[in-house]
Amino acid sequence: MTQKPFGILGTGSAVPDRVLTNDDLSKMVDTSDAWITKRTGIKERRILEEGRTTSDLCIEAGRKAIEDAGLDPSDIGMVVLGTVTPDRQVSATACKIQHALGCRDIPAFDMAAGCSGFVYGSAIASRFLWTGGHDNVLVIGAEALSRIVNYEDRTSCILFGDAAGAAVYGTGHGGRRELRSNYISASGEGYDVMHTLAGGAEQPLTHELLDAKQNKLVIRGREVYKFAVNKMVELVKREMEANPDLELGGIIPHQVNMRIIESAREKLDLPEERIFVNIDRYGNTSAASIPVALHEARETGFFEDMEGKLVVMCAFGAGLTWGSLGFRW
Ligand SMILES: CC(C)(COP(=O)(O)OP(=O)(O)OC[C@H]1O[C@@H](n2cnc3c(N)ncnc32)[C@H](O)[C@@H]1OP(=O)(O)O)[C@@H](O)C(=O)NCCC(=O)NCCS
Repeated sequence: MTQKPFGILGTGSAVPDRVLTNDDLSKMVDTSDAWITKRTGIKERRILEEGRTTSDLCIEAGRKAIEDAGLDPSDIGMVVLGTVTPDRQVSATACKIQHALGCRDIPAFDMAAGCSGFVYGSAIASRFLWTGGHDNVLVIGAEALSRIVNYEDRTSCILFGDAAGAAVYGTGHGGRRELRSNYISASGEGYDVMHTLAGGAEQPLTHELLDAKQNKLVIRGREVYKFAVNKMVELVKREMEANPDLELGGIIPHQVNMRIIESAREKLDLPEERIFVNIDRYGNTSAASIPVALHEARETGFFEDMEGKLVVMCAFGAGLTWGSLGFRW
């Protein structure tokens, strides 16, 4: 069967107004702006206000992406949300978003692939678009990580922030920003590397578990670090091999840690201006990080000289999961 080409029609993002700086954190745990900046490149992150939730950010980002695509919500054929911080365990946040945006009765579902959520969502969307199942799919990556971060754990609370980013993929892309290749995978051997223990079917919440903060996020940062550097290099090379006719234009990596991105960049022997970075302002926003960076990269002219070139987006995260997208820009 011939594949129907498709590409990015529109993008959008939404971040909370509330800013949490490194200095703010140093009043909460034993850390400093100097340590966080040197070890992660993060200066501040956004924190969702009380009373607002993941879907609020998703609806804002999704609406912007649909408008940017020049479409009406009724043109969307599927809503895929990558998140590990949905509004509720039941029902799917994507259904709430679909309704709030004014979409038709179309498939809408959440998908937990950690920081790879947007890449996984895009890979799923590609199967429906390539085979003609739908003409337009809204893929959102969003998190309210502040709701599961332990703000007494200095090894993890410095890293994360809240945000949502969205992209509308469609067949009416006119040959631009075409998603040509993608790859997703996982290794459950790393199931415990990043996790929240309590609150699911394995350990339903009890007062004792809540008191012990067992519902909060735990990460083994050192292990993620090595895994992430190697994966980023491997994923970029994979997309280059899948698109041998294209010259590499730029990379939108998961905003995991500036040092991780820098190490991978050096191994790939690429100049700084080829890699989009905004981790200093948002920290690691997990599934939201790539679509937020994508939207900002478009707004700030990052892609200006990349028409017809290869753009790679790559992510890795809890699961462990990983994946990459290769675009002809
Ligand atoms: C978490 C991370 C920043 C830690 O950086 P690191 O260079 O690996 O630091 P280490 O964990 O080896 O800790 C070094 C020292 O700093 C201390 N430290 C840890 N966090 C600190 C903080 N916020 N402030 C000050 N000191 C801190 C440690 O206690 C340790 O002290 P010790 O040497 O006396 O034992 C880094 O490993 C990372 O970014 N990993 C990726 C994690 C991630 O983003 N995962 C999300 C999903 S992809």
